[in-house]
Amino acid sequence: VRQLLPRLLDEVDPAALYAADLRPAPADRPWVLVNMIASVDGGTAVDGRSGSLGGPGDKAVFAAIRAVADVVLVGAGTVRAEGYGPTRTGARIAVVTASGDLSPDLRLFAERQLVVTCERCPAARREALAAVADVIVAGDERVDVRAALAALGERGASVVLCEGGPSLNGQLVADDLVDEWCLTLSPLLVGGASPRAALGPPLAGDPTRLRLDRLVTDGELCFARYVRA
Ligand SMILES: NC(=O)c1ccc[n+]([C@@H]2O[C@H](COP(=O)([O-])OP(=O)(O)OC[C@H]3O[C@@H](n4cnc5c(N)ncnc54)[C@H](OP(=O)(O)O)[C@@H]3O)[C@@H](O)[C@H]2O)c1
Repeated sequence: VRQLLPRLLDEVDPAALYAADLRPAPADRPWVLVNMIASVDGGTAVDGRSGSLGGPGDKAVFAAIRAVADVVLVGAGTVRAEGYGPTRTGARIAVVTASGDLSPDLRLFAERQLVVTCERCPAARREALAAVADVIVAGDERVDVRAALAALGERGASVVLCEGGPSLNGQLVADDLVDEWCLTLSPLLVGGASPRAALGPPLAGDPTRLRLDRLVTDGELCFARYVRA
């Protein structure tokens, strides 16, 4: 893996690169890092899953980014589509759901995880999930993502990695809660109707300006790290 920016380095270790980055948590919530892979034409899934966008280099960077996270935040749609399991890094997974439509028998719950939900979630589903996860209620009709992040901070998380999907990312963007965005660019044109990496309500204010902090490549995929400008 080669670093192109901020300066040329022929051999870099992704794990060491991402581990050395500073991620100071704001006062009222953890640092929020989003990690997504997209095709050159902006697709985030092929046949409803992201797996075929990646490659061997992607796995190393994906693992390097997970290694810096205290909690991995993910939408229930992604858990259902991608068949999530526990992390190998010790980070707990926090699944965001309003419906609570997640079987306690999922492979994910082989280790105790977090479920972030709202008042609308039926009590029976909340109770079933409480057997396999710590349940956080943040919001009425939908999870208020800002309150959810604050609750994760109160439980000791200082870096929260959001792994999508696009609808969860869209809420973080709309609420201006993204401190870092890691984008893996896959050299594919996938067409189709998969959403771009953030899909959600329009912004109330100006777009959030980011700064390109680092660009790395394995010769096929590009790995860009952007941070809030
Ligand atoms: N390219 C990539 O890096 C990447 C990464 C992740 C996912 N993906 C792809 O993205 C697709 C899934 O994305 P998606 O946008 O449909 O799903 P998503 O954001 O993962 O999940 C949407 C679901 O999350 C829950 N949710 C999200 N925000 C919520 C809120 N504020 N309050 C309560 N619940 C909330 C709801 O679950 P309930 O329905 O349970 O209420 C909602 O239906 C899949 O095709 C996946 O492969 C790609």
